[in-house]
Amino acid sequence: MVLGNLMKILNGEILLNKKYGENLYKMEIFSPYICKNALPGQFVNIKCCYEGMLDPLLRRPFGIYEIDKRFNVFTILYLIKGKGTLFLSKLKKGEILNFIGPLGNAIKIVTGAENYLLVGGGIGVAPLCLIARYLTDLQKNVYFMAGFKDELFFSWENDLIKIVRNYRIFTENGSFGEKGLPTNFIREHIDQYKKFNFICCGPREMLKALQDILQGKNIAAIALMEEMMACGIGVCMGCVIKIKEGNNAFTYKRVCSDGPAFNLMEVIFD
Ligand SMILES: Cc1cc2nc3c(=O)[nH]c(=O)nc-3n(C[C@H](O)[C@H](O)[C@H](O)COP(=O)(O)OP(=O)(O)OC[C@H]3O[C@@H](n4cnc5c(N)ncnc54)[C@H](O)[C@@H]3O)c2cc1C
Ligand code: FES
Repeated sequence: MVLGNLMKILNGEILLNKKYGENLYKMEIFSPYICKNALPGQFVNIKCCYEGMLDPLLRRPFGIYEIDKRFNVFTILYLIKGKGTLFLSKLKKGEILNFIGPLGNAIKIVTGAENYLLVGGGIGVAPLCLIARYLTDLQKNVYFMAGFKDELFFSWENDLIKIVRNYRIFTENGSFGEKGLPTNFIREHIDQYKKFNFICCGPREMLKALQDILQGKNIAAIALMEEMMACGIGVCMGCVIKIKEGNNAFTYKRVCSDGPAFNLMEVIFD
């Protein structure tokens, strides 16, 4: 069923649902439609219960992590948070997933921008990986920085090294990569990144810290926002965030249909 723009309600066979860490999973789904039509920055809204069941009632949004057009397979990387993601983690190869997609807007690549710094915090690295692949395919210079609490994302590095050569991984407890926060590193070395376009996704504290670091620096920065969602298609206004508009004014924007990519410097975190 076509819902508007290119989004459709789709069924896709699960080809893999692999545990990457304690509560971290990677799921591969067969979907020629998503592989043909989805672009970096977009997401899918997944039904997290069996057909005919209504609990949880609302679909759950997930950024598209990888697209393999050769085999018509797209991938999501997800953390178990609650009922919906627990349900996903129990699905087996061969079962059918019901989802709506592609949703949201693709990120816009500015003509002439050659250097990109992608900054991901926690599961925020997931949509950034597809963006990194897209930018490297365009021969852009891509540097990836990721920050995690601990070593949960250890296996994920094997995916990352297939996409980018230049990256740094930080953990708060030092159990994987360098000890510390990517934002502290960026703050200390900001002069190195003056000619970079930033694209970031992660916890609000990380996005807010980046906004503070970039204030007044005239560096372009896109943030992929991840608000709780209901409809996922721009109807319910359940996912709005405040975006600066002019001096001391703001407007509400829907993360699902106006985003999820926004100018980081215009996002109001309160
Ligand atoms: C555009 C978008 C892309 C996303 N991409 C990914 C992804 O690639 N991988 C991934 O693992 N997750 C992603 N998320 C978050 C994911 O949608 C939630 O983790 C999921 O909906 C939780 O469902 P649940 O039923 O398991 O948990 P629930 O029972 O609904 O919630 C469990 C806990 O998680 C919190 N939570 C739920 N949704 C969100 C959210 N959107 N942001 C912050 N906290 C939340 C709740 O407050 C609650 O504390 C994305 C969210 C958005 C909006
Ligand atoms: S989730 Fe309904 S408008 Fe965004």
